[in-house]
Amino acid sequence: MTGGTPLLRARHVVQQFTVRGAGGLKGGVVHAVSDVSFDVHGGETLGVVGETGSGKSTLARSLIQAPRPKSGEVLFQGTDLVGLRRRPLVEARRHLQMVYQDPFGSLNPRWRVAELVEEPLLGYGVKGGEQRRKRVHELLDLVGLDPSVFGRRRPHELSGGQCQRVAIARAIALEPALVICDEAVSSLDVLIQAQVLNLFEQLRAELGLSYVFIAHDLALVKEVSDRVAVMHLGQLAEIGPAEALYRRPLHPYTAALLESIPGLDPATGRARRPVPLRGEPPSPLDPPSGCRFRTRCPRAQQRCAQEEPVLVERASGHSAACHFPLDAPVPAPTRGV
Ligand SMILES: Nc1ncnc2c1ncn2[C@@H]1O[C@H](COP(=O)(O)OP(=O)(O)O)[C@@H](O)[C@H]1O
Ligand code: SF4
Ligand SMILES: [Mg+2]
Repeated sequence: MTGGTPLLRARHVVQQFTVRGAGGLKGGVVHAVSDVSFDVHGGETLGVVGETGSGKSTLARSLIQAPRPKSGEVLFQGTDLVGLRRRPLVEARRHLQMVYQDPFGSLNPRWRVAELVEEPLLGYGVKGGEQRRKRVHELLDLVGLDPSVFGRRRPHELSGGQCQRVAIARAIALEPALVICDEAVSSLDVLIQAQVLNLFEQLRAELGLSYVFIAHDLALVKEVSDRVAVMHLGQLAEIGPAEALYRRPLHPYTAALLESIPGLDPATGRARRPVPLRGEPPSPLDPPSGCRFRTRCPRAQQRCAQEEPVLVERASGHSAACHFPLDAPVPAPTRGV
């Protein structure tokens, strides 16, 4: 799955926002995404995890050029989207779609379901009313909504799960190769969440889709992902095969994230008490020098304040950006660096 030319290559993607200070709050440059690089291969699901504010949504929006990143490359099916404008960008983005967290907010409340699903087809000039209606039926069938029952309904007549199915039908209408799901099941209750996850899996098998699956729920991401990327304060802390990353994390931040959720103690097989992450994440307006995790890291050393760690592959396909990763000898603790 990881061989061949990647479907998507993000290279040194940077996204920043200039904010003005107001009401005692500091202004400056928000370093939302800083030099992020990764690949997504055909047919795979890459999970993206990290605390709120770590830059997951900004990264997703940078990939679809909304807005365009400040610098870096986003090579999708061999074309750098960052260099494209207007129609060529719209064309290149046809096969790269997004599903958002809020299913109600992403649908025009005045439109009927059939119109909502037809819209992307019209937008990309799919000709022939009859052909479009047939495709709308097919798409609603695919996402498990009976067209004769749901086609004439408006969003307020649907449940959250049904709305998300409509959003998914819209996203797959133009036969995308890659769908970015930004917290796409986070607002659904557990039962509906499982149904929508099954739908994603079914579409992956039937249509050969790839996904970037962004969520703050670590257990959920493990369940659906082949590989997982961990974001911390706008940077990739770690990326690797899901199984290995959860079983043997390399980056102290990943380990701390995993310890912060309820789980089983591998030694005793009993439920383990979650350990909250220490301290608050630093501000992306003024990230710490060197390693951005150093103010909260139990392994921090002098070097961590002076030198920014880069991603280094430490096992097959498993990389971490850390001077003293967890597979290396423990340095003597020098807290408060
Ligand atoms: N348009 C914007 N203007 C200013 N700051 C922004 C903007 N969008 C996001 N940010 C900031 O960028 C950082 C990353 O946000 P976000 O990508 O939404 O994180 P996540 O999705 O991981 O919760 C946060 O500090 C957020 O406040
Ligand atoms: S580079 Fe240093 S501070 Fe950063 S995670 Fe590794 S050990 Fe901790
Ligand atoms: Mg987000």
